[in-house]
Amino acid sequence: MNTTLLDNKTKQIIQNANSIVFFTGAGISAESGIPTFRGKDGIWNKLKPEELANFNAFLKNPKLVWEWYQHRKEIIHNCQPNPAHKIIAEIQNKFERVSVVTQNIDNLHRRAGSKIVYELHGNIERNYCIDCNKQYGDNVPLKDGLPKCECGGLVRPDVVWFGEYLPQEVFKASEKEAEKCDVFFIVGTTGIVYPAASIIYIAKNSGAYLIEVNTNATDVSPSADKSFFGKAGEMLPQIFLEIL
Ligand code: APR
Repeated sequence: MNTTLLDNKTKQIIQNANSIVFFTGAGISAESGIPTFRGKDGIWNKLKPEELANFNAFLKNPKLVWEWYQHRKEIIHNCQPNPAHKIIAEIQNKFERVSVVTQNIDNLHRRAGSKIVYELHGNIERNYCIDCNKQYGDNVPLKDGLPKCECGGLVRPDVVWFGEYLPQEVFKASEKEAEKCDVFFIVGTTGIVYPAASIIYIAKNSGAYLIEVNTNATDVSPSADKSFFGKAGEMLPQIFLEIL
């Protein structure tokens, strides 16, 4: 990419930033091979979230929901962090504070080496018993194909399903990061799923400089101080190449 992306104002604001937050969605993992939810090949165009990503659906058909998440986990395990995840990790020691507030459950930010990661919608690598709350990693016992805890309770993925509350501690900490940051990147999200998306406007109202990176314009674009329309795996490394 031989054209410079950054105008001087944006360049200076990023260079002078102490604290940077990256608010990310499914789009940042698209180049790793993980499908997004909405848009042309989005998961929710083919499958019904009400049948797969909510607690009642799990109680009604735990085998279907469990197997779907195992299928997604397999896709994720065969994927690698891409240059967008990697550059966020690489710049961690170039600024006073770099944190990630993600809606993704794919664990790719951590796998890329990001240290401060807030998972608003949980993490597909974790599971817990809905009766005794025993925590499980990959070692979930199966009984007749059903994820069963030693106590006999059903084990579910530690992800936030539609209609469920976000983990309050994580949400509160993410709000704090948004309130304190100088620059707030919004990468690969439609920004329409609440309460996660409210973090964007907390940053905006706290005076952060909002930079959107997305292949398409979104509901967030009018609120962004700067939007870069392109692939995160190409745009983010280029932005920091011009900065550092
Ligand atoms: N680089 C940058 N942006 C991209 C790329 C890419 N390579 N590919 C797709 N995008 C953009 C799309 O234009 C879209 O705006 O990523 C966004 C993906 O949006 P969604 O599929 O709606 O995903 P997300 O915003 O993360 O969804 C929020 O909804 O289904 C629930 O819990 C789920 O966390 C998820 C939440």
